[in-house]
Amino acid sequence: MLCLTVGGKVEGCAIVAYRNGLTSARLYSLAVAPRLQGLGYGARLLEAAERAARKHGRLSLRLEVRMRNRAARAMYERRGYRTIARLDPYYQDGAPALRLERTFNGPAKTRNQRPPRRLPSAAWRPRTQSGASPPP
Ligand SMILES: CC(C)(COP(=O)(O)OP(=O)(O)OC[C@H]1O[C@@H](n2cnc3c(N)ncnc32)[C@H](O)[C@@H]1OP(=O)(O)O)[C@@H](O)C(=O)NCCC(=O)NCCS
Repeated sequence: MLCLTVGGKVEGCAIVAYRNGLTSARLYSLAVAPRLQGLGYGARLLEAAERAARKHGRLSLRLEVRMRNRAARAMYERRGYRTIARLDPYYQDGAPALRLERTFNGPAKTRNQRPPRRLPSAAWRPRTQSGASPPP
C-alpha cells in the first residue's frame, strides 16, 4: 500500500497486489481525497505504483476501471494504458469495467502530456505489510 499524506493526514492511496507466478502486478485500488482531486496527486500515486511493480520485477501493471469513470480512464490512457478486455458485468451493481494494462518494456507514451503542475507540499508514506523500509 502506498499512502499519500498531506499535512500529516492520509489523503490518498494506491494498493498494488502481487500474485505468485504472474509477470504482471495488479493495481487493486487508487484513490485521492475528493478535495484534492485534479491537483496531480493521482498521477503521482500511479507513478509510485508503477515503480513499486517494477521493483518487484513485474513486466506490466493491470487494473480494472469503470467504463463510466471518465477521469480515471483519461488518466490511464494518457499514460500508456491499453484496453485488454471488457468485463460486463463486473461490479456488484452490474456496471461494466475495462481491464487496462501498461507494459514496462517501453517508455510511457508522453505525446500530448502536459508539463507537471505545481503541487502543494506533500509527503509520501509508502507502507508494506511487514513494515519494512519503503522504496525511495
Ligand atoms: C482517479 C483519481 C485517482 C485521479 O486522481 P487526481 O488526483 O484527481 O488526478 P490528477 O490530478 O493527478 O490527474 C491525472 C489525470 O486524470 C485525468 N483527470 C483528472 N481529473 C479529471 C476530470 N475531472 N476529467 C477528466 N480527466 C481528469 C487527466 O487525464 C489527468 O491527466 P493530466 O494531468 O495529464 O491532464 C481520482 O479522481 C479519484 O480518486 N477518483 C475516485 C476513485 C477512482 O475512481 N479511482 C480509480 C479507480 S480505477
